[in-house]
Amino acid sequence: MSKILVIDDDVSICESLELYLAEEGHEVYTASTGTDGLNAFVETSPDVIILDIRLPDIDGFTVLEDLQEESGDFKVIMITAHHDMETTIKAMKEGAFDYIHKPINVDELDMAIKKAINVLEMEKKINGFLVEKESSHQFKVGDIIGTTNEMRQIFKTIGVVCQGKSTVLIQGESGTGKELIAKVIHHNTSGNEPYIAVNCSAIVETLLESELFGHEKGSFTGAISRKLGKFELARHGTVFLDEISEMSLNLQAKLLRVLQEMEFERVGGKDSVKVNARIITATNKDLKALVQEGKFRDDLFYRLNIVLITIPPLREKREDIPYLVDYLLTKINRDLHKRINGISDEMMDIFLRYSWPGNVRELENLLVRAAVLARGQTLGRADFPDLIDDVQSGGADMQGADGRTESGRYLTLDEVEEMHIRRVLRSNSDKNKGEICEILGISRPTFERKLEKYEITFERD
Ligand SMILES: Nc1ncnc2c1ncn2[C@@H]1O[C@H](COP(=O)(O)OP(=O)(O)OP(=O)(O)O)[C@@H](O)[C@H]1O
Ligand SMILES: [Mg+2]
Repeated sequence: MSKILVIDDDVSICESLELYLAEEGHEVYTASTGTDGLNAFVETSPDVIILDIRLPDIDGFTVLEDLQEESGDFKVIMITAHHDMETTIKAMKEGAFDYIHKPINVDELDMAIKKAINVLEMEKKINGFLVEKESSHQFKVGDIIGTTNEMRQIFKTIGVVCQGKSTVLIQGESGTGKELIAKVIHHNTSGNEPYIAVNCSAIVETLLESELFGHEKGSFTGAISRKLGKFELARHGTVFLDEISEMSLNLQAKLLRVLQEMEFERVGGKDSVKVNARIITATNKDLKALVQEGKFRDDLFYRLNIVLITIPPLREKREDIPYLVDYLLTKINRDLHKRINGISDEMMDIFLRYSWPGNVRELENLLVRAAVLARGQTLGRADFPDLIDDVQSGGADMQGADGRTESGRYLTLDEVEEMHIRRVLRSNSDKNKGEICEILGISRPTFERKLEKYEITFERD
């Protein structure tokens, strides 16, 4: 039950809405002028206000404006004359939650009220979820740092998502925090249940199928006993399917069926097993583009894309860099028993202009490496030799960089190539030779030749 205030000078509208809404179980108040409406608002603190634009004393927009100044959680639904798009847009811009047309259609009204109440409830939960830190700009959800509007929007989405179990698709470049977000969602939804991550690109198709769905004893050579799949093992928790774009079309079809029926059979088995876990998928590719190229099933895409979280790359949220440095150094100090108190202003300036192709992970790796070797308490140029080298030679992709060295000379192609290889290696310290070759788009022998040519040591296999 919610409290609803109807402000309309048409007495018959007030009366009929009062009847109808009371029957729906709401507590209803009415007022026929703007002034009465505002007074009633103060007295009753309603959740939803249904507000006519044309009122005898003050017009609806002014009432809306006055309401915006009031504190409290409520939503305003405007009643607008039909076809008057201009007033509608104006109302929405001025902070109305929704609008309905005159003559009032009860279904439309019902929908708008339900939506408003839902959103109010979600917002209340989210407000409990957002922890405001010392600085009024910094918000933190779990351990995700973010100060920009996009990040705050993401926090809101996370808050909403944690109220249910809908499927979530997380898109973002490598190292932007996709898995971090998946874990935060998991912990805030079903933290006591298992969280199970599967990298879809790491395992061959047949194995991936039995990894996900499990298999019965003897279902294929080597299946010596029954094995439970990840969907089963996750119980009421979360299955995180990383690099979903790498899943074969064949397996995509099987996953689609699971999502449609929330049920599946183990490989070689007949019994159907229920899926209770939430499914979160992640990709660093543009899935929609892959759909258009025919490499990803569109029906599966729509199933996965119920809630989409797109994490911006670090270079598009440079404001976060100082906060991230702070946060990461605190973590590093704790883990490595160090007492680093920050980075020099000069380094911060470089950090703020650098393009961070490996995003937050690259930043974290760089800080860890610097912290391990650091002598002083403030990290400076000497602690980031590779990055400084790149910057000085003009190879580091810096904001405003134009392919020239600091002395203004253009880089040669070889220099660009060398820098690029070094950069890719640095920001992909977790990848093996094959994966690096794939990123660079070259064969292994070519890669070996380039390593030798530029005297780069690379000790992964
Ligand atoms: N907003 C953030 N606040 C704090 N730490 C972050 C943030 N974003 C990323 N990180 C940290 O950066 C590292 C990389 O994040 P994560 O592994 O989640 O990235 P990813 O998008 O899954 O990367 P990949 O595509 O390479 O798998 C982690 O240590 C994570 O904790
Ligand atoms: Mg990841």
